[in-house]
Amino acid sequence: MRIIGILFGMEQSFPPALVEAINSMGVEGVSAEFVKIGGVRMDDVLRYDVILDRISHDIPFYRSVLKVAVLNGTRVVNNPFWWSADDKFLGYALAAKIGVPVPRTIIFPTKQHPPRTTSESMRNLIYPLNWDELFQYVGFPAYLKPHLGGGWRQVYKVHDPQEFFAAYDQTGDTVMVLQEAVDYEEYYRCYVIGNRVRVIPYAPHHPYHLRYTAPYQPTPEREAQLRELSLRLCTALGYDINTVEFAIRNGIPYAIDFLNPAPDAERYSVQEGNFNWIVQNTAEFLVELALQGRQIPPTYRWSALLSPPADSTPTKPEKSPRRSRRR
Ligand SMILES: Nc1ncnc2c1ncn2[C@@H]1O[C@H](COP(=O)(O)OP(=O)(O)OP(=O)(O)O)[C@@H](O)[C@H]1O
Ligand SMILES: [Mg+2]
Repeated sequence: MRIIGILFGMEQSFPPALVEAINSMGVEGVSAEFVKIGGVRMDDVLRYDVILDRISHDIPFYRSVLKVAVLNGTRVVNNPFWWSADDKFLGYALAAKIGVPVPRTIIFPTKQHPPRTTSESMRNLIYPLNWDELFQYVGFPAYLKPHLGGGWRQVYKVHDPQEFFAAYDQTGDTVMVLQEAVDYEEYYRCYVIGNRVRVIPYAPHHPYHLRYTAPYQPTPEREAQLRELSLRLCTALGYDINTVEFAIRNGIPYAIDFLNPAPDAERYSVQEGNFNWIVQNTAEFLVELALQGRQIPPTYRWSALLSPPADSTPTKPEKSPRRSRRR
């Protein structure tokens, strides 16, 4: 029997609906259940062939267990190594390199020293920073937001340097990025599950349960474009499940947030139609993984998608042994 385990936190509707959907598919040799975890020995092999991880970003103990599960071939969705390595600044830089439009973004030192450090620990830092130059690149208005964030925590829209510094002063030791604000005509949240994408018109400023109804629909061309860009990003990042948000300005889709490896899937907020799609497609995707069985994941996918650095010296083609013998 191949077992799919669901690891989750406060969610109410999605985990039981998913277990029910998988088990009612009646696929021979595959079953789903909630993960049960206590103390784990380093040589323990978990009974789960697939684990859907919805919560290890909040429970570091789970993250550690999941990394060891990967060593034993468990298919963990999403890959805990990449999730641990990822951050929004890297994401924007990578997106730009693979041809996905993103707003101009900068990163800079935190307002306060990280815990247990002093100015002595900061001896490599250029201080004071040349803020004018940085602001010129980004422009105003701009969004100040954590490089690892979610749920709109510490997201500030700032219109000038004064507002920036007033907000920055409140950010403590959280690493922040500053990003050009995209004044958008339309906004979409694309739900990615494996190679399936649902393009959803999204009103980000509304309360959760009203966000998934925006007063426009994508044209077929727009839908195809957002689907392709979403898959390109998630393939590069190595996420099996993610949401990719786009703000459309002058017809160009700018990727705004694509670090959502455990995206909201509650029935109440995503609404019935989306909920059913998410449950059904996640169920089918996890069953596919279960049928493939345990595997060690390949290395990070983005390395294959990048061209060599521009300033690298091209390596000379190696001479074949036969040619050198002739000489
Ligand atoms: N560069 C930008 N241009 C326009 N709007 C932006 C920009 N950055 C962020 N926003 C707005 O702020 C919201 C929150 O930003 P972001 O998605 O990066 O943070 P989050 O905490 O990850 O949010 P979520 O919980 O929705 O994933 C976005 O949904 C969008 O409405
Ligand atoms: Mg987010």
